[in-house]
Amino acid sequence: MMTTRSRRSTPAGEHRPVLLDEVLEVLGPKPGEVAVDCTLGLGGHSRAILERIGPSGRLVGLDWDADNLAHARVRLATDDRGVSVHHSNFAGLLRVLASERLDRVDLILADLGMSSMQVDDAERGFSYVRDGPLDMRMDRSRGRSAQQILATIPEQELSDALRQLGDEPHADRIAHAIVSTREQTPIARTLDLCRVIGGAVGQATTRNQGWRLRPSPGKWSLHPAARTFQALRMLVNRELPNLQELLRVLPQCLAAGGRAAIISFHSGEDRLVKAAFRQSVTQGLYRDVADSPIRASETEKRSNPRSRSAKLRWVTRA
Ligand SMILES: C[S@@+](CC[C@H](N)C(=O)[O-])C[C@H]1O[C@@H](n2cnc3c(N)ncnc32)[C@H](O)[C@@H]1O
Repeated sequence: MMTTRSRRSTPAGEHRPVLLDEVLEVLGPKPGEVAVDCTLGLGGHSRAILERIGPSGRLVGLDWDADNLAHARVRLATDDRGVSVHHSNFAGLLRVLASERLDRVDLILADLGMSSMQVDDAERGFSYVRDGPLDMRMDRSRGRSAQQILATIPEQELSDALRQLGDEPHADRIAHAIVSTREQTPIARTLDLCRVIGGAVGQATTRNQGWRLRPSPGKWSLHPAARTFQALRMLVNRELPNLQELLRVLPQCLAAGGRAAIISFHSGEDRLVKAAFRQSVTQGLYRDVADSPIRASETEKRSNPRSRSAKLRWVTRA
């Protein structure tokens, strides 16, 4: 599914993947290896992996977002016989590998969350600074949009989701404001939702009202709607259940000595990754597990605010 996109802040050519050096260090791709990128995005990590596995290697890439896949195809020159891409949820990784006649692979990467192109495209509804329809589906060919979920979700369920998936301290107030507003008028657009959140927490949500991403040099502020948007996105796309399924099948997909790396951006995701890796170590499925997550360097954090919350964990298959 292709769409015309609105102005982007991160052109594809300038995209620098999060924790790139660290990912390459822990995965250690070698010539001839078979790699899977579960979250191709713009293909930044994949491209660097491809360079290392070389022409004798093989790369299988997945993305749940058909628009992103189109860009990744161009970036990775997928007419190359060593590269194949799939429009697929990574929860279906076993099915994808079976379709490629691959039993087990050497490297698996998952860089969770959204790509910059998804955030920058107002029509996708992921951004709290661009006005667009409240969609938020990674795969626009199926599922319920954020607008549809917000129209019916019970107040308590919404409040729980904002707290658990967004770590939102004002979850009750925001959920109550959303439910009261939707009784008067549907909440259909991103900036409508921002206004409701701003009203509930008594804070500015637009530049016109005085909100600033960088209130002073070297300082970044969190948008009052950021946590709610994150929670809704995770709810719409069932991100924790999908990650749980990926973690469940991961040991079956890795060859002996194979490495997996997962970059997460949310405490709930990182907890799942940490627990699954530790449990599999005690079951003898993995050796060499990361004791603590790898974080972005201060230099990367300064140049890419998204990297500030990134946590990289890795394992080696026994
Ligand atoms: C942070 S971006 C990946 C960026 C990529 N590493 C790069 O270097 O360009 C995350 C990507 O994962 C995709 N994604 C999110 N959930 C997914 C899922 N369950 N299955 C497959 N892809 C998913 C998103 O569509 C998005 O393109």
